[in-house]
Amino acid sequence: MKRTYVITGAASGIGASTYALLKERGEIVIGVDIHNTDINVDLSTVQGRESGVNQAVERSQGKIDAIIACAGLATPSPKTVSVNYFGVKEFLEGLLPTISKSKSPRVAITSSMASLMPNSPELVEVMLANHENSALQIAQGLSDEGDERAALIYGSTKRALSRWVRRESIKPEWAGAGIPLNAVGPGIVETPMVADMIATPEARTAIDAMVPMPLNHYMKPLQVAYLLAWLTSEENTHTTGQTIYIDGGSDAALRGDDIWDSIS
Ligand SMILES: NC(=O)c1ccc[n+]([C@@H]2O[C@H](COP(=O)([O-])OP(=O)(O)OC[C@H]3O[C@@H](n4cnc5c(N)ncnc54)[C@H](O)[C@@H]3O)[C@@H](O)[C@H]2O)c1
Repeated sequence: MKRTYVITGAASGIGASTYALLKERGEIVIGVDIHNTDINVDLSTVQGRESGVNQAVERSQGKIDAIIACAGLATPSPKTVSVNYFGVKEFLEGLLPTISKSKSPRVAITSSMASLMPNSPELVEVMLANHENSALQIAQGLSDEGDERAALIYGSTKRALSRWVRRESIKPEWAGAGIPLNAVGPGIVETPMVADMIATPEARTAIDAMVPMPLNHYMKPLQVAYLLAWLTSEENTHTTGQTIYIDGGSDAALRGDDIWDSIS
């Protein structure tokens, strides 16, 4: 039987590739993006998130089996906080009552290898405490302090997202309702988001030092789409709370072979 998927960020990159893959597999797919897809809303605003939720419910006639959240920004600005963290969390929470009615509900979001990179602990905590205005103020402060501090914003949004996924996944609303909730953590994916970062040999050398990918180097968005499709398929019954790094070996290269200190 066909499943109904809602995909944010469906107009470009990983979201567009996942949209195309699931359509090709015969599923019903509803895209959400700021432009060029089925539902066009700005997920950086509360109104845009609410409108996106309402339109998704209406368009699916209240029948949604999976949500895949890919919309994101990588600019060193407060807006990245609104889209990457609150735009994901509030959109998912808005659709939770609808997806909970599915026989096999699934949710997956795109975090990043950047969740393992330097971040602002203050910004991460404020996001997790659900204070969007304070988070925007902290992000503006980082932005004003110059490039190095501003660069912490993106990693902070992804660290907060991956922590939110772990925290939420085991709660009654998610695990108790039979909903696996996971994130993927891509390394470098060849999409418009990173085009400038890998445009020249010098830029590639710099990015390769930050995100080493010994297995097959950079990837196409379809590679991430396959993983998102599996995480949100009926086959996934027991994987939840995870950030699955799809990164050509970056995580293993950077963090080494013992990441279990906290439980020893
Ligand atoms: N490309 C990479 O190397 C990489 C690596 C790790 C994680 N990611 C993450 O994967 C996700 C997808 O990124 P991508 O590489 O496909 O980038 P992309 O720029 O190709 O696609 C991002 C999409 O998000 C949409 N979007 C941005 N702001 C929005 C808003 N306010 N409202 C609604 N939609 C909005 C854009 O219009 C675009 O279609 C992002 O969350 C990104 O952080 C990407």
